[in-house]
Amino acid sequence: MADQAQSVTVTIDGLNVSVPKGTLLVEAAKQVNNEIPVYCYHTKLGPAGLCRICLVEIEGMPKLQIGCNTRVSDGMVVHTTSERVNEGRRAVLEFFLLNHPLDCPICDKGGECDLQDFSMAYGQGQSRLADRKASKPKAVDLGPTIVLDEERCIVCQRCVRFDDIITGERSLVVKDRGHRDIIATAADEPYHSNFSGNVTELCPVGALTSKTYRFKSRPWDLQRTQTTCTQCSVGCQLLVDVREGTVLRTMSVPTDDRISDGWLCDRGRYNIGFYDDARRLSAPLYRDSGHWMQIQWQDAVELWAQAIKDAIAAGGPQTVGVLGGGRLLNEEAFALQHVFRQLGVQNLDWRSGPQRQATPGRSGGLPTELEAAEAIVIVGQGPSETAPILDLRVRKAVLQRGAVCIAVGSRDAEPPYPCKHVATIKDAVAAVPKGAKRIALVWDGVDPQAGRELGNAFAAEPTLRYIAGEQGNARGAEAMGMHPASGPGFAFGSAAGRDFAGMVEDARAGKLHVLCIFGANPALHFPNGNAVAEALERIPFVVVSDLFMTQSAEYAKLVLPAHGLFEKFGTTLNLGGDVLPVNAALNAPQGTLSDLEMIAGLAQALGAQLPGASELAEYVIQSAAATHDLELGDERLCGATPKAALPAQAEGDGTLRVAVQSRIFAGGGTVAHDPWIEQLQPLPQAAVSPSVAQRLGLTTGDCVDLEGAGSTMHDLLIEVRAALPDDVVAVIGGLPDDPANVFGGGALVRIGNIRSAGELAGVPAAS
Ligand code: SF4
Ligand code: SF4
Ligand code: FES
Repeated sequence: MADQAQSVTVTIDGLNVSVPKGTLLVEAAKQVNNEIPVYCYHTKLGPAGLCRICLVEIEGMPKLQIGCNTRVSDGMVVHTTSERVNEGRRAVLEFFLLNHPLDCPICDKGGECDLQDFSMAYGQGQSRLADRKASKPKAVDLGPTIVLDEERCIVCQRCVRFDDIITGERSLVVKDRGHRDIIATAADEPYHSNFSGNVTELCPVGALTSKTYRFKSRPWDLQRTQTTCTQCSVGCQLLVDVREGTVLRTMSVPTDDRISDGWLCDRGRYNIGFYDDARRLSAPLYRDSGHWMQIQWQDAVELWAQAIKDAIAAGGPQTVGVLGGGRLLNEEAFALQHVFRQLGVQNLDWRSGPQRQATPGRSGGLPTELEAAEAIVIVGQGPSETAPILDLRVRKAVLQRGAVCIAVGSRDAEPPYPCKHVATIKDAVAAVPKGAKRIALVWDGVDPQAGRELGNAFAAEPTLRYIAGEQGNARGAEAMGMHPASGPGFAFGSAAGRDFAGMVEDARAGKLHVLCIFGANPALHFPNGNAVAEALERIPFVVVSDLFMTQSAEYAKLVLPAHGLFEKFGTTLNLGGDVLPVNAALNAPQGTLSDLEMIAGLAQALGAQLPGASELAEYVIQSAAATHDLELGDERLCGATPKAALPAQAEGDGTLRVAVQSRIFAGGGTVAHDPWIEQLQPLPQAAVSPSVAQRLGLTTGDCVDLEGAGSTMHDLLIEVRAALPDDVVAVIGGLPDDPANVFGGGALVRIGNIRSAGELAGVPAAS
């Protein structure tokens, strides 16, 4: 019920409703379950007043008004279904259909198209046009993800406005005028965006379609399941549409205001093709004398249990390690540590990449709270490539609400919104507007010293804190006790094992005999890839549970085929601290098991106890909600040891320090095994500052090698990036064909083997 002082009462089709003053008529009507038809209007985009399908009759006003851009006033009497209204809408539709093709039988939008639906409700049923319809190009390739049918477009401009208001990228435009107007990209470049798929949902007709879904199905043939995306730590709610056992598309949940704001990033939306990929593992694999052979699950579990028993009997529980990464659900992470802790194993960790901490502690903010911040301070890699939908909240705060964004020592590409670049956290404190009451701190969880410094610098201010790292259910794994120093619910003092870096050291020293890797790929993602490879070589029994033969699985003795996210039930814990439901939308392939089923089998073989389903659910809720006073860079989670000294860089010695950056489409697991999405993997890239580019005579598009620390990265495309410091080269991590972790964190490298963009294109170099 609206506040009386601020509310107005309006009568809509005979029903009285009280709404806050200033409410748009189209929104007020929803309160009485009356959906006024709209095309250009969208709740998140606001009114545009372009299409006029929302005509309504307001008593006392001589002409029909548009419901989407009329604010209600007290005593207003509105008719939305009168004869005059219907006649107005009929005329509007006749105009829209004038040149619209008769495409419904072959249009992907058929069955869920607003033009089809409103034509049925208000249209006149036949055309009065005697001339030929104007024709326009069909199936225009707009970019790597989207196809445009120009004839179907009703120029509502939702797509253009999304790209302006929500992403700030402004790459979509309306070209030409009158009946020739079309949607295009600003510079005729392909439409590239991490959020491109949203325009297909916004498009009220079949003009914008996803390449992944074209001509695949009718909506009534799809079975829909709501679940949570765990491709990153945001936890967007997701609708999974399945037909005959295949995921055909995913859609956003428009009412998910708390987390996704009704959007999805392209990773969450499009990375669905791997479920049916022929490379998927479908039976346990055992490596004997260098050869892989398929074995039965029972044999696999027995071999695994025996290896653990033998290792513990020979050298104690410290010879066993477990790495359980962000693909695990809360229940799986809890069960994993629970079983191994019963055996005395303390070497437990979720940190298979550079991220060290996932839980921000007491003042952790919700995604929705971030958009109300007046100042946002970003330390480390920003969320654009690690938690994309959180990045949209940053954009909303800055572009729509005037927040100030400050990035400290950023290595990221320039964002599509105003952002102050500063060198130190002290500079960031000075850059926060005086009197700003809501300050948000966004940290990537990688450098604990930077995290501590950030927390301390703003200790006196009320802040909202976010850790936007690169692993999906990292916060869940951390809270469930997959940590060498903390049991479930941050029970510090109950554990004292080795973190994964310590396990790598132990392995290289021949002290680790069994390593169990669940849902993680440290060979590709851990900062020192060469050390991990050497460690994995030396461990006698490595077990990997995964969907594919990953870079880490190549070293295993035993590989266990696992269920994917859409094939299991459970919960996840997102970066805002919400426990979110995961629901199976697919039957898993024969021969695979969920990680929980594998852990249960192991527990049985080892005589360890596992809580029953309801008890496990209770433990998960308790552990996720445990009150704790964690700080950013908390020493209890990250360790107190300062970072190992980086190799010294003498001024002018021509070396550059490697900064590894995440990208949403880089990775060796589901991305690399999704035939369609593989093409979205970025090419290896080396970003340098303008002065480094000038010194070496480089321009964007040139191709180079990086050499240093005994390794080489080949064929990287140069990008000249304005905000980069002069001593840094930023490279993309997680690319299977050119892994950036060959150098180890912070290594010094030189740029060599320079080939100019012109040379590569076959243009002879100027003499
Ligand atoms: S392509 Fe779709 S969303 Fe974009 S203007 Fe045309 S009809 Fe509207
Ligand atoms: S932002 Fe993260 S959780 Fe949301 S759709 Fe993208 S990958 Fe999934
Ligand atoms: S929805 Fe009102 S003018 Fe388009």
